[in-house]
Amino acid sequence: MKIFIDSADIDDIKEAAAMGFLEGCTTNPSLLAKVGRRIESAIPEICEIVGGPVSAEVLSTDYDAILKEGRSLAKLHNHVVVKIPMLIDGLRAVRTLSDEGIRTNVTLCFSATQALLAAKAGATYISPFLGRVDDAAQDGTELLEQIVTIYANYELHTEVLAASMRSPLHVVQAAMIGADCATLPISVIRQLVKHPLTDIGLERFLSDAKTARETAK
Ligand code: E4P
Repeated sequence: MKIFIDSADIDDIKEAAAMGFLEGCTTNPSLLAKVGRRIESAIPEICEIVGGPVSAEVLSTDYDAILKEGRSLAKLHNHVVVKIPMLIDGLRAVRTLSDEGIRTNVTLCFSATQALLAAKAGATYISPFLGRVDDAAQDGTELLEQIVTIYANYELHTEVLAASMRSPLHVVQAAMIGADCATLPISVIRQLVKHPLTDIGLERFLSDAKTARETAK
């Protein structure tokens, strides 16, 4: 499972990229608003840091405008993946952009039928929002499992990008189910690395080594 960062914050993206395992990034209008950046300036900078796919979301909701905005986002950098909301016009635009060789990520996916249609329209990625499904007192991992199974049944090549991930447990569940990628906030990425027994074990090794150095003949 590829690990992406879900952020538009340059410091967080640099921190994650420096860890050595980052393979992509997703942004959305809320994340860009949070850091007060314009998409046109932020996305090329993020692409250079990440060196892999970076999702940049359109704000348009009708077919012609999505196409225009999508084409112009794709020109920002060759790592750009155009993120398009799950709408009928969105699916039409995914088909056209995909035929033009522009990669797409269908966002705001909350059902297996939406995911099936996105794949049939030629989406490069589908983003089921696990955390937001959980917020609605349903099971986000069940949705993920349905999508992974359906794509496998019909050999659909759209990559499943588990999104709205809130905890390391979500990451383990997504990996067990077989999601292709997971996009994570920096707080969850940091949590993935940590385990109290690692810290305790390291402290003991270093202290034993220090004692041994001081007492060794
Ligand atoms: C995915 O592409 C979205 O940007 C993101 O994962 C949404 O996460 P949230 O539900 O925590 O806002």
